[in-house]
Amino acid sequence: MDEPRPRLVQRFSGAERTLHWVYALLFVILLLSGLFLYLGPGQNPFLDRRELMRSIHLDAALALVALFLLVAAGSPGTLRRLRDDVEWFDRDDARWLLWVLVPRRLRGRPLPPQRRLNAGQKLNTVLTAAATVGFTVTGTLMWGGSALPTSLSEAADTWHLLLTEAMIPLVAGHLVVALLFPSTRGALRGIVTGRVRLDFARRRHARWAETLEQGEDTV
Ligand code: HEM
Repeated sequence: MDEPRPRLVQRFSGAERTLHWVYALLFVILLLSGLFLYLGPGQNPFLDRRELMRSIHLDAALALVALFLLVAAGSPGTLRRLRDDVEWFDRDDARWLLWVLVPRRLRGRPLPPQRRLNAGQKLNTVLTAAATVGFTVTGTLMWGGSALPTSLSEAADTWHLLLTEAMIPLVAGHLVVALLFPSTRGALRGIVTGRVRLDFARRRHARWAETLEQGEDTV
Protein backbone atom coordinates (compact mmCIF):
# COMPACT_ATOMS: atom_id res chain seq x y z
CA MET A 1 0.00 0.00 0.00
CA ASP A 2 1.26 3.55 -0.76
CA GLU A 3 2.58 5.54 2.19
CA PRO A 4 0.31 8.52 2.98
CA ARG A 5 1.84 11.79 1.74
CA PRO A 6 3.51 13.75 4.56
CA ARG A 7 1.66 16.95 5.46
CA LEU A 8 3.65 20.08 4.62
CA VAL A 9 3.46 23.41 6.44
CA GLN A 10 4.61 26.86 5.35
CA ARG A 11 7.90 27.83 7.05
CA PHE A 12 9.41 30.67 5.00
CA SER A 13 7.69 33.18 2.72
CA GLY A 14 8.99 33.97 -0.79
CA ALA A 15 10.47 37.26 0.52
CA GLU A 16 12.30 35.44 3.33
CA ARG A 17 13.75 32.90 0.92
CA THR A 18 14.77 35.60 -1.57
CA LEU A 19 16.46 37.52 1.27
CA HIS A 20 18.28 34.37 2.39
CA TRP A 21 19.54 33.28 -1.03
CA VAL A 22 20.46 36.70 -2.42
CA TYR A 23 22.23 37.45 0.88
CA ALA A 24 24.08 34.10 0.72
CA LEU A 25 25.18 34.74 -2.87
CA LEU A 26 26.38 38.27 -2.09
CA PHE A 27 28.13 37.02 1.05
CA VAL A 28 30.16 34.51 -0.98
CA ILE A 29 31.06 37.17 -3.58
CA LEU A 30 32.09 39.61 -0.81
CA LEU A 31 34.11 36.96 1.01
CA LEU A 32 36.05 35.81 -2.06
CA SER A 33 36.69 39.29 -3.48
CA GLY A 34 37.60 40.53 0.04
CA LEU A 35 40.11 37.70 0.52
CA PHE A 36 41.78 38.54 -2.79
CA LEU A 37 42.02 42.18 -1.69
CA TYR A 38 43.64 41.21 1.64
CA LEU A 39 46.23 38.82 0.17
CA GLY A 40 49.59 40.44 -0.40
CA PRO A 41 51.84 40.46 -3.48
CA GLY A 42 53.00 36.99 -4.46
CA GLN A 43 49.98 35.38 -2.78
CA ASN A 44 47.32 36.87 -4.95
CA PRO A 45 46.76 35.39 -8.42
CA PHE A 46 44.45 38.32 -9.22
CA LEU A 47 46.88 41.03 -8.12
CA ASP A 48 46.93 42.66 -11.53
CA ARG A 49 43.12 42.62 -11.34
CA ARG A 50 42.99 44.45 -8.00
CA GLU A 51 40.80 47.22 -9.39
CA LEU A 52 38.38 44.65 -10.79
CA MET A 53 38.24 42.82 -7.42
CA ARG A 54 37.72 46.13 -5.66
CA SER A 55 34.81 47.12 -7.87
CA ILE A 56 33.23 43.65 -7.54
CA HIS A 57 33.55 43.97 -3.74
CA LEU A 58 32.04 47.47 -3.67
CA ASP A 59 29.22 46.60 -6.07
CA ALA A 60 28.31 43.52 -4.01
CA ALA A 61 28.36 45.64 -0.81
CA LEU A 62 26.01 48.19 -2.40
CA ALA A 63 23.76 45.36 -3.61
CA LEU A 64 23.62 44.01 -0.04
CA VAL A 65 22.46 47.35 1.34
CA ALA A 66 19.97 47.67 -1.56
CA LEU A 67 18.64 44.17 -0.79
CA PHE A 68 17.72 45.15 2.78
CA LEU A 69 16.19 48.45 1.64
CA LEU A 70 14.13 46.64 -1.02
CA VAL A 71 12.89 44.02 1.46
CA ALA A 72 12.13 46.71 4.06
CA ALA A 73 10.16 48.74 1.49
CA GLY A 74 8.53 45.88 -0.45
CA SER A 75 7.77 43.46 2.36
CA PRO A 76 8.07 45.22 5.73
CA GLY A 77 6.36 42.24 7.39
CA THR A 78 9.40 40.06 6.58
CA LEU A 79 11.87 42.00 8.72
CA ARG A 80 9.21 42.53 11.43
CA ARG A 81 8.57 38.82 11.59
CA LEU A 82 12.30 38.05 11.81
CA ARG A 83 12.60 40.58 14.63
CA ASP A 84 9.66 38.93 16.42
CA ASP A 85 11.38 35.56 15.96
CA VAL A 86 14.60 36.65 17.64
CA GLU A 87 13.51 39.16 20.28
CA TRP A 88 12.60 36.52 22.90
CA PHE A 89 15.21 34.30 24.46
CA ASP A 90 13.46 32.27 27.14
CA ARG A 91 14.20 29.37 29.47
CA ASP A 92 13.48 26.77 26.76
CA ASP A 93 16.04 28.49 24.52
CA ALA A 94 18.68 28.30 27.28
CA ARG A 95 17.77 24.63 27.88
CA TRP A 96 17.97 23.97 24.14
CA LEU A 97 21.50 25.42 23.98
CA LEU A 98 22.56 23.28 26.95
CA TRP A 99 20.94 20.24 25.30
CA VAL A 100 22.93 20.63 22.08
CA LEU A 101 26.18 21.25 23.97
CA VAL A 102 25.88 18.21 26.24
CA PRO A 103 27.28 14.94 24.77
CA ARG A 104 24.55 12.70 23.38
CA ARG A 105 25.01 9.89 25.96
CA LEU A 106 24.50 12.34 28.86
CA ARG A 107 21.25 13.82 27.53
CA GLY A 108 18.49 12.69 29.83
CA ARG A 109 15.60 14.75 28.51
CA PRO A 110 14.09 15.17 25.06
CA LEU A 111 14.88 18.23 22.91
CA PRO A 112 13.36 21.30 24.64
CA PRO A 113 10.44 22.69 22.57
CA GLN A 114 11.29 25.58 20.27
CA ARG A 115 9.44 28.28 18.34
CA ARG A 116 9.87 28.91 14.58
CA LEU A 117 13.59 29.64 15.06
CA ASN A 118 15.43 27.60 17.65
CA ALA A 119 17.98 29.21 20.02
CA GLY A 120 20.91 28.46 17.67
CA GLN A 121 19.09 29.98 14.71
CA LYS A 122 18.21 33.05 16.77
CA LEU A 123 21.89 33.54 17.61
CA ASN A 124 22.85 32.96 13.97
CA THR A 125 20.30 35.56 12.80
CA VAL A 126 21.32 38.18 15.38
CA LEU A 127 25.07 37.66 14.79
CA THR A 128 24.63 37.77 11.01
CA ALA A 129 22.56 40.97 11.25
CA ALA A 130 25.07 42.57 13.64
CA ALA A 131 28.00 41.58 11.40
CA THR A 132 26.18 43.04 8.36
CA VAL A 133 25.81 46.38 10.15
CA GLY A 134 29.47 46.17 11.25
CA PHE A 135 30.68 45.40 7.71
CA THR A 136 28.62 48.29 6.32
CA VAL A 137 29.91 50.83 8.86
CA THR A 138 33.59 49.76 8.70
CA GLY A 139 33.44 49.34 4.90
CA THR A 140 32.04 52.86 4.49
CA LEU A 141 34.84 54.23 6.71
CA MET A 142 37.46 52.33 4.68
CA TRP A 143 35.94 53.68 1.46
CA GLY A 144 36.25 57.27 2.67
CA GLY A 145 39.74 56.35 4.01
CA SER A 146 41.91 59.15 2.63
CA ALA A 147 39.60 61.85 3.99
CA LEU A 148 39.64 60.36 7.53
CA PRO A 149 42.22 60.43 10.36
CA THR A 150 44.64 57.48 9.91
CA SER A 151 43.73 55.98 13.30
CA LEU A 152 40.06 55.79 12.32
CA SER A 153 40.65 54.21 8.93
CA GLU A 154 43.12 51.73 10.48
CA ALA A 155 40.59 50.79 13.16
CA ALA A 156 37.94 50.30 10.46
CA ASP A 157 40.35 48.07 8.53
CA THR A 158 41.12 45.95 11.60
CA TRP A 159 37.44 45.51 12.52
CA HIS A 160 36.47 44.67 8.95
CA LEU A 161 39.04 41.85 9.00
CA LEU A 162 37.99 40.69 12.50
CA LEU A 163 34.35 40.52 11.38
CA THR A 164 35.39 38.44 8.38
CA GLU A 165 37.31 36.06 10.65
CA ALA A 166 34.29 35.74 12.94
CA MET A 167 31.82 35.14 10.10
CA ILE A 168 33.77 32.31 8.45
CA PRO A 169 33.28 29.77 11.30
CA LEU A 170 29.68 30.98 11.82
CA VAL A 171 28.75 30.36 8.17
CA ALA A 172 30.76 27.11 8.07
CA GLY A 173 28.85 25.87 11.15
CA HIS A 174 25.56 26.91 9.54
CA LEU A 175 26.39 24.93 6.39
CA VAL A 176 27.38 21.83 8.37
CA VAL A 177 24.08 21.90 10.30
CA ALA A 178 22.02 22.64 7.16
CA LEU A 179 23.66 20.14 4.83
CA LEU A 180 25.30 17.36 6.84
CA PHE A 181 23.29 16.56 9.98
CA PRO A 182 20.49 14.09 9.15
CA SER A 183 18.36 15.34 12.10
CA THR A 184 18.30 18.95 10.81
CA ARG A 185 18.48 18.37 7.06
CA GLY A 186 14.66 18.48 6.87
CA ALA A 187 15.00 22.27 7.18
CA LEU A 188 16.65 22.52 3.76
CA ARG A 189 13.34 21.90 2.06
CA GLY A 190 11.93 24.93 3.93
CA ILE A 191 14.55 27.41 2.77
CA VAL A 192 14.30 26.07 -0.81
CA THR A 193 10.56 25.55 -1.32
CA GLY A 194 9.14 27.43 1.68
CA ARG A 195 7.50 24.34 3.22
CA VAL A 196 8.63 21.60 5.62
CA ARG A 197 7.06 18.36 6.82
CA LEU A 198 4.72 18.78 9.76
CA ASP A 199 6.40 15.86 11.56
CA PHE A 200 9.75 17.69 11.21
CA ALA A 201 8.15 20.88 12.64
CA ARG A 202 6.70 18.89 15.56
CA ARG A 203 10.04 17.24 16.30
CA ARG A 204 12.36 20.25 16.01
CA HIS A 205 10.05 23.24 16.60
CA ALA A 206 7.29 21.89 18.83
CA ARG A 207 6.01 25.27 20.04
CA TRP A 208 5.82 26.62 16.49
CA ALA A 209 4.05 23.44 15.32
CA GLU A 210 1.51 23.94 18.11
CA THR A 211 0.71 27.48 16.91
CA LEU A 212 0.36 26.15 13.34
CA GLU A 213 -2.10 23.51 14.45
CA GLN A 214 -4.10 26.14 16.30
CA GLY A 215 -4.11 28.22 13.09
CA GLU A 216 -2.25 31.12 14.74
CA ASP A 217 0.83 31.27 12.51
CA THR A 218 0.65 32.35 8.89
CA VAL A 219 3.62 33.25 6.68
C1 HEM B 1 24.66 26.92 0.40
C2 HEM B 1 24.49 27.84 1.35
C3 HEM B 1 23.42 27.81 2.41
C4 HEM B 1 22.54 26.82 2.77
C5 HEM B 1 22.36 25.43 2.18
C6 HEM B 1 21.72 27.35 3.84
C7 HEM B 1 20.68 26.68 4.47
C8 HEM B 1 19.79 27.25 5.35
C9 HEM B 1 18.63 26.60 5.90
C10 HEM B 1 18.20 25.17 5.62
C11 HEM B 1 17.99 27.50 6.70
C12 HEM B 1 16.66 27.28 7.43
C13 HEM B 1 16.83 26.61 8.76
C14 HEM B 1 15.47 26.20 9.31
O1 HEM B 1 14.47 26.30 8.65
O2 HEM B 1 15.38 25.70 10.44
C15 HEM B 1 18.77 28.71 6.70
C16 HEM B 1 18.49 29.84 7.43
C17 HEM B 1 19.38 30.90 7.63
N1 HEM B 1 20.57 31.11 6.93
FE1 HEM B 1 21.36 29.87 5.52
N2 HEM B 1 22.16 28.61 4.13
C18 HEM B 1 23.21 28.94 3.28
C19 HEM B 1 23.95 30.13 3.26
C20 HEM B 1 23.83 31.12 4.22
C21 HEM B 1 24.74 32.25 4.35
C22 HEM B 1 25.98 32.50 3.47
C23 HEM B 1 24.29 32.99 5.41
C24 HEM B 1 24.85 34.26 6.01
C25 HEM B 1 26.03 34.72 5.81
C26 HEM B 1 23.11 32.35 5.92
C27 HEM B 1 22.36 32.81 6.98
C28 HEM B 1 21.17 32.26 7.42
C29 HEM B 1 20.35 32.80 8.48
C30 HEM B 1 20.69 34.06 9.31
C31 HEM B 1 19.24 31.96 8.61
C32 HEM B 1 18.07 32.08 9.62
C33 HEM B 1 18.48 31.48 10.94
C34 HEM B 1 18.97 30.05 10.85
O3 HEM B 1 18.24 29.20 10.33
O4 HEM B 1 20.10 29.79 11.30
N3 HEM B 1 22.85 31.22 5.18
N4 HEM B 1 19.87 28.52 5.87
